[in-house]
Amino acid sequence: MPTLDINIAEHISIPVPSKVTVDLDPAKLEFGKTFSPNWFVAEYHDGFWQNARVEGLQNIALHPAAIVFHYGQSIFEGMKAYRWANGKVALFRPEENARRFARSAVRMAMPPVDPAFFVEAVKALVHTDAAWTPAEPGSLYLRPTMMGTEACIGVRASHEFLFFVLALPSGAYFKESGSGGAGSVVVYVAETSSRAAVGGTGDVKASANYAISLHTIEDGKKQGCSQVLFLDSNGKRQVEELGGMNVFFVEGNTLRTPNLHGTILPGITRDSVIQVSRDLGYAVEEVPVNIDEAAGKIAAGKITEVFACGTAAVISGIRELQFETGRKLIIGNNSVGPITQQLNARLQGIQFGRLEDTHGWMQIVD
Ligand code: PLP
Ligand code: COI
Repeated sequence: MPTLDINIAEHISIPVPSKVTVDLDPAKLEFGKTFSPNWFVAEYHDGFWQNARVEGLQNIALHPAAIVFHYGQSIFEGMKAYRWANGKVALFRPEENARRFARSAVRMAMPPVDPAFFVEAVKALVHTDAAWTPAEPGSLYLRPTMMGTEACIGVRASHEFLFFVLALPSGAYFKESGSGGAGSVVVYVAETSSRAAVGGTGDVKASANYAISLHTIEDGKKQGCSQVLFLDSNGKRQVEELGGMNVFFVEGNTLRTPNLHGTILPGITRDSVIQVSRDLGYAVEEVPVNIDEAAGKIAAGKITEVFACGTAAVISGIRELQFETGRKLIIGNNSVGPITQQLNARLQGIQFGRLEDTHGWMQIVD
């Protein structure tokens, strides 16, 4: 399918900036439940993206045979706008989300949205609902989404799509890890189910990847765990990633994270953590990580910190691994470690405009 680009400025009608009607105290915002009053939306039919607009957020009416309902043709992104102390609102590396969204679309037989159009769409919404961006440590979480909307029970790619962006004022992703600092959580190690297989869709943000991990996430919650760590589907016990985050292991001054091998998501936070870690003088290795070897090193006190990272969670320490077999493994001193905290402070410092943005990652939305 062709990549379509249109000059968004000519097509977007932007409503009057909205007045804030909810308490934006980050401590009171449950992640994923509070929406700003507008959304960006465009429809694809007859081979073009049409009718791009920012308008009041509303329910959508779809035919019950819409392909997304039956065959799950759907992708999404997660990104954030941050309120700086000077009142400005800035996006973090939006082109990276745009490129990944286009890759996800191609993988799922959808028309890729031109990356420049994607960024303009996000900026148009952030501009309209900028007042809904909470102060630090909160942020405005953005959820670009695309789905196949054509009514057709035949198993094939849709010819009609909806592309929309939602904005959610947000506090900490993990309530249990508190807001602001890196926090620390207990993670369930899935040993009998996996999230992605070679040749599958693990390296893109297909909604299907999340659907198939929900039952394991619920199992983990029953054991008191906040997230699930998935291993490779071949039973070789290689660490992949968490349900919504990448993972790092800290041994001395070296950070290790699973290499990108087609079944894990190339996280933008993962890439940023690698760059920030090197800036701070740490060695970073992108290599296969075997869970049993890592567990041995944790038990021996050689691996002292493990942390997860992603847009929603930022950087979150992992203080304990709970294996499906029942084994529990405390990491380091059972709380967030100093390197995890240092990396979180550096990354958040850049995102909130407090530290120099040496990589040119931030984009102020006028
Ligand atoms: N892995 C998965 C499965 C995710 O859902 C996410 C979140 O988007 C990540 C990793 C981290 O990616 P990013 O840092 O781009 O948000
Ligand atoms: C994100 O971090 O943006 C994600 O999409 C992951 C999800 C756990 C919210």
